[in-house]
Amino acid sequence: MVTMKNFIQNLPKAELHLHIEGTLEPELMFLLAKKNGITIPYNSVEDVKKAYSFDSLQSFLDIYYAGASVLVDSDDFYELTMAYLRKCHDQNILHVEIFFDPQTHTSRGVAFGDVVEGIIEALGDAQKKYGISSFLIMSFLRHLSQDDAIATLKESLPYKYFIKGVGLDSSEFGNPPSKFQKVFQMAKNAGYECVAHAGEEGDASYIKEALDLLHVARIDHGVRCEEDKELIQRLKKEQIPLTVCPLSNLKLKVMQDMKEHNIKRLLEYGLMVTVNSDDPAYFGGYLNENFEAIATSLKMSKEQIKTLARNSFKASFLSEEEKICYIDRFL
Ligand code: ADE
Ligand code: ZN
Repeated sequence: MVTMKNFIQNLPKAELHLHIEGTLEPELMFLLAKKNGITIPYNSVEDVKKAYSFDSLQSFLDIYYAGASVLVDSDDFYELTMAYLRKCHDQNILHVEIFFDPQTHTSRGVAFGDVVEGIIEALGDAQKKYGISSFLIMSFLRHLSQDDAIATLKESLPYKYFIKGVGLDSSEFGNPPSKFQKVFQMAKNAGYECVAHAGEEGDASYIKEALDLLHVARIDHGVRCEEDKELIQRLKKEQIPLTVCPLSNLKLKVMQDMKEHNIKRLLEYGLMVTVNSDDPAYFGGYLNENFEAIATSLKMSKEQIKTLARNSFKASFLSEEEKICYIDRFL
């Protein structure tokens, strides 16, 4: 009998909700801090791990943005991305759609081009070395202004060939999707795909706004959709993907216990749910560990786990032909 752990390992998977800055492991953080002469408020890896105890999204974001300050040149972004892609290879992840937060870096004087060039070089090398396909999604920080997002959108245009879409992340409370209606319309006009974090800490109205005002193709997180029965019916009817991140939800106290997570229920309602790791270096696990956590805590069947893995390709921005090639592996 194949154990659940081996079953998960062997399943082909795509990851659609992953912040590259959230893959910065403490060891690389120390290395880059030393290389770039940047002071970080930790003395050891153990020290860092102790600091990774969060009670809300904001308590995590404060530490996450501080950590990202060690990333300075394009080589740093290359090393960061390559380390994540090696992990993908180990975990049988065949396709990735990676978020990056340009404003976190440009606000410190790092050039937009250095960030993108480091990441895309690693994506190209991983395609050649491991056969991993990928897209890059640029996220706007929602705690900043729409004007700042518009300036970032304009800065991205010379790199448009390398960027598939735009997203919206950072502090959700008080920064609803409606704040970014104009920049999302501009991004859509420029040919970008659109996604947004919604319904992580914010209530179901944030999900409706992201759909109705930003016209997003996917909702990142979306777990609070359950509070609105009509919304559930709509998500089901339109098969709008939710990129759910179980270990993230547990660490940020969106759920108090993995046994209370609603991913299994959402799947059983017939929603297009996927599993993702969000910021794995901060939340205690990469993609397979997220699958293992829900499989165990929610007593999910292998068939359900397989559906979630299949959904990860269906919900991706791959072409229909490419999706078929990946999904055929499940037959
Ligand atoms: N940025 C990185 N991870 C995030 C999350 N889980 N929610 C909002 N913004 C983020
Ligand atoms: Zn996220």
